[in-house]
Amino acid sequence: MAVDIAGRRGIIRRYFDHLPVSDATPVVTLDEGDTPLIFSERLSNEVDAEVWLKYEGLNPTGSFKDRGMTLAISKALEEGSDAVLCASTGNTSASAAAYAARGGLTCGVLIPRGNVALGKLAQALVHGATVLEIEGNFDRALELSRELADRYPVTLVNSVNPFRIEGQKTAAFEIAQALGRAPDLHVMPVGNAGNITAYWRGYSEARRANWISDTPIMYGFQAEGASPIVRGAVVDEPDTIATAIRIGNPASWKGALQAAEESEGAIRSVPDDEIVLGYRSLAREGLFVELASAASIAGLRQLKASGAVPSGAVVVCVLTGHGLKDPDSAIGDGPRPQIVEANVEAILAKLELA
Ligand code: F0G
Repeated sequence: MAVDIAGRRGIIRRYFDHLPVSDATPVVTLDEGDTPLIFSERLSNEVDAEVWLKYEGLNPTGSFKDRGMTLAISKALEEGSDAVLCASTGNTSASAAAYAARGGLTCGVLIPRGNVALGKLAQALVHGATVLEIEGNFDRALELSRELADRYPVTLVNSVNPFRIEGQKTAAFEIAQALGRAPDLHVMPVGNAGNITAYWRGYSEARRANWISDTPIMYGFQAEGASPIVRGAVVDEPDTIATAIRIGNPASWKGALQAAEESEGAIRSVPDDEIVLGYRSLAREGLFVELASAASIAGLRQLKASGAVPSGAVVVCVLTGHGLKDPDSAIGDGPRPQIVEANVEAILAKLELA
C-alpha cells in the first residue's frame, strides 16, 4: 500500500516555506511541534492578566529540542554526514539520540557527570547513542564538542548549529497563529540561550509575514546560581537545582541580549526556591513540567511584583520540558505512598471517607 505523507505533521512540512529546506532535504521527523497553548485560569487570576502556557513537554521526546533537532538531523543527512555529536544537560542528548536513530545516523553525547536527570539519560541510552559522562560541567562539554566537530567528520547538533535555532523559531509561529496576535509579554527560561534567540527570530519573522502586527516584550529567566547574562560575566561553577539550565557561559549570549534589547524586555534571574514553588503550583494545576520550565512561572511572579505585568495583558509562558523526565525531583522529600491493608475498611480510613 502506498503511504501518502503529504500534509502530515512535523514542523518542516508545516513551515516548509519559512525554513532553509528544499525538496532535496530528506525529512527526518517524529511529528514534533503543534503543541498546545493552554490557558491558565489560576495564574491569570493571580497576576490579573491572560496567561497562556506553551506546553513544549508534549513534543515527541518531551522537550522543545525536537523542533530544532528535526531540522538539524535532516540537514546533516542532506549534507552527507553519518555521525552527530552534542553536549547536553540532558534534553538535547535525548532529542539528538532519538532523531539520529530515526535518520540512521550514529550519535555521541557528552554530558556533565551526575547532573543529568535520569529520564533524559535513559532516553539517550535507549535510542542507542554513545553516552559519555565527563568530569566537568556543561560548558566544558560544549567546548570539547565544538573542538571535536571542528577537527573530525561529525556534525555538531547543539544550538550553535544554525538549523537548531531555525527549527525552534516555529514555536513562536504557532503562538502567533493560535492567539491570532502577538502576546504582550513572552516569558521563558534561559540556559544556553538558543531558545530565546529562536523565539525572537520567530516572532520577528511572523511580524514581517504580517501574521501579527506587533512583537511581544521578551523576558528570559536564568536560575540565580547560573545567571551569567544577568551578571554580565561567565560563571565558572554554575549551580542550580534546575540542572537543565545549569550553564555558566551560554553559546547564544548575544542572541539573548538582542531579544531583550530589541523587544524592550530583559534577562533576569530567579532563585531556586521560587523555581520550586512555580513547579509545585503548575503540578497542582495538572501540568507536570521539569524544574527548569518553572523558571517561567517564577519569572512571571517576579515581573508581577515589579509592576511589569499590566492588568489584562496577554502573557505566554513557555513550559520547555516534561516533568516525567525527572521523577526524583517530583518525589523529593514530599509525601510517599502509604501502605495499607488490602481491605475496604482500612482503605476507607486512609481516604478519610468514613
Ligand atoms: N528548559 C529546558 C527543559 C532545557 O532543557 C533547556 C536547555 C532550557 C530550558 C534552556 O534552553 O539552552 O535554549 O536557553 N537544555 C539544553 C540541553 C542546554 O542540553 O538539553 P536554552
